[in-house]
Amino acid sequence: MCGIVGYIGDKNCVPILINGLKRLEYRGYDSAGIAVIFDHNSQIVKNKGKVSLLEDKLESLHLFSNLGIGHTRWATHGIPNELNAHPHFNSEKNLYVIHNGIIENYQTLKKGLQKLGYEFITQTDSEVLPHLIDSFLKKGNSLFKSVQLSLNEVEGTYGIAVVYEKEPDKIIAARKGSPLVLGIGENENFVASDVSAILSHTKQIVYLEDGDIIQVFKDHFSAKTILDKDIEKEIHEITMTLDEIDKGGYSHFMLKEIMEQPESVRNSMRGRILFDEGTSKLGGLENVAEALAASNRIIISACGTSWHAGLVGKYMLEQFTRIPTEVEYASEFRYRNPIINKGDTIFFISQSGETADTLASLKESKMRGALALGICNVVGSSIARESNAGVYTHAGPEIGVASTKAFTSQLVVLSLITLLIARKKYMSIVDGKSIAEELSKIPDKIAEILKLNDQIEEIAEVFKEAKNFLYLGRGYNFPVALEGALKLKEISYIHAEGYPAAEMKHGPIALIDENMPAVFIAPKDSTYDKIISNIQEVKARRGKIIAVASQCDNEIDKIVDYTIKIPDTIRILMPLLTVIPLQLLAYHIAVKKGLNVDQPRNLAKSVTVE
Ligand code: G6P
Repeated sequence: MCGIVGYIGDKNCVPILINGLKRLEYRGYDSAGIAVIFDHNSQIVKNKGKVSLLEDKLESLHLFSNLGIGHTRWATHGIPNELNAHPHFNSEKNLYVIHNGIIENYQTLKKGLQKLGYEFITQTDSEVLPHLIDSFLKKGNSLFKSVQLSLNEVEGTYGIAVVYEKEPDKIIAARKGSPLVLGIGENENFVASDVSAILSHTKQIVYLEDGDIIQVFKDHFSAKTILDKDIEKEIHEITMTLDEIDKGGYSHFMLKEIMEQPESVRNSMRGRILFDEGTSKLGGLENVAEALAASNRIIISACGTSWHAGLVGKYMLEQFTRIPTEVEYASEFRYRNPIINKGDTIFFISQSGETADTLASLKESKMRGALALGICNVVGSSIARESNAGVYTHAGPEIGVASTKAFTSQLVVLSLITLLIARKKYMSIVDGKSIAEELSKIPDKIAEILKLNDQIEEIAEVFKEAKNFLYLGRGYNFPVALEGALKLKEISYIHAEGYPAAEMKHGPIALIDENMPAVFIAPKDSTYDKIISNIQEVKARRGKIIAVASQCDNEIDKIVDYTIKIPDTIRILMPLLTVIPLQLLAYHIAVKKGLNVDQPRNLAKSVTVE
């Protein structure tokens, strides 16, 4: 979603801002802009579209400045165009603001400012900020005070950075509900919505909390709350390297991330399996493990792919812990006045740890006294910090908008949590050990499936022109069917639906003809015979069938058109294997259609607005 980067120091900020914005491109955006301050003067440059176009524009201007802010916008209020792009400014054009989030009371604020004579030129909610700040500056306040007072009038969410010609020694930055970090350098400092924007310059990071406001000078900073309380901020050392963020020789981040899965799932389980005891050790849950095992009910709240992981988690938890488990779309959960009882534990699954709906559902649940546990990938993210306790997935940075390795790591963590609880309840050490053993074999099995890449690419060639796809699975593989369909939709723009295979006859079967490919997830498990019947039903209607099947299954090839043979594992872990071919199938179809796989249209990596 929107990205923020800011610089103050001795160097020319223009290339630093542009490189920072390029690092944020993966979040999804539709326009970009920067504002720089120099010699008590300023310059703003914006455009619709890519950061590279902004860079081209800037080249001819030969700007040199030690202070500036840059932004990538993903439209919420007002269409994506140059006018609505950030930074926004006051009428004198000497004060510039970039903003992530949504100002909910902007209409009221705008009317008040218009009465004072302020003229608005954009359709955005964000434009109220420079005018509001300006109104406080006109009353004789400093920039810091003016921003602080303004934010006290704002309802909604924000991560902001502000610069002002008349106070050219500082950036003011603040956050509420939208991530923001400060990067500490030598005689230079940075602000950013995401550490990856500034990681090539510094690894010393200060995370802003909701309600924090900071003054950033080139050689120091100070922090308060917007209610003017003094606060101390801790500096964290980041271990993530830029190499980890680069494409690593693959043509797309998504392919790199699919191929990384043997390693990423290994990292998710590293040091967490206690083989001798047939259980797991999750440092982040140690203090709450007893309460977790004693839960009367578990709720999992998430969005998108993380929600699909949650649905697999429900199958795992209910089968082995016998704790009733519900899976909720965070957006529904937060608004429908959910019943939360004493003894309920709620997991919030989020790759980014910043998804607005998941974060809001977490806050609501905490307010009602539930034990709120996070399962996040991004360390230090809002959900990770707001939850009572939690587990990091350790999948490494995921840049491709369509989530792949984060999903499999979420499944690993959910299986570890299941082991942890189940062993405290009904599971025997023998059963625990066998799950632990099987889990440790998953990385090698994923590596084996990845060797089928060329075969899957050939299948993609056959089906790349299809207009619709059906994905069908049963039990643990029903959520995988949903995830397979989502992957295809997201990046190839082909309409695809995931269904529990048996539900096909209650609707989707009407769609089947020779133009309708159906992907069946049909490993040899207890529902195998049933799924073969479903396959026959599609075949009888001349549907084209791709099956993800067990290596040992020699019969299925006789019925279906294409088979992708994968190794076996126990049912609880099957989704970790069956999802891999579906990720590759979606990837190759999208590439063959010439689409932007890493940044699909209309989608954002991190959805920090509702
Ligand atoms: C967006 C992304 C999806 C992701 C979902 C939830 O829609 O494009 O890939 O699954 O948000 O994101 P989260 O970071 O909370 O897992």
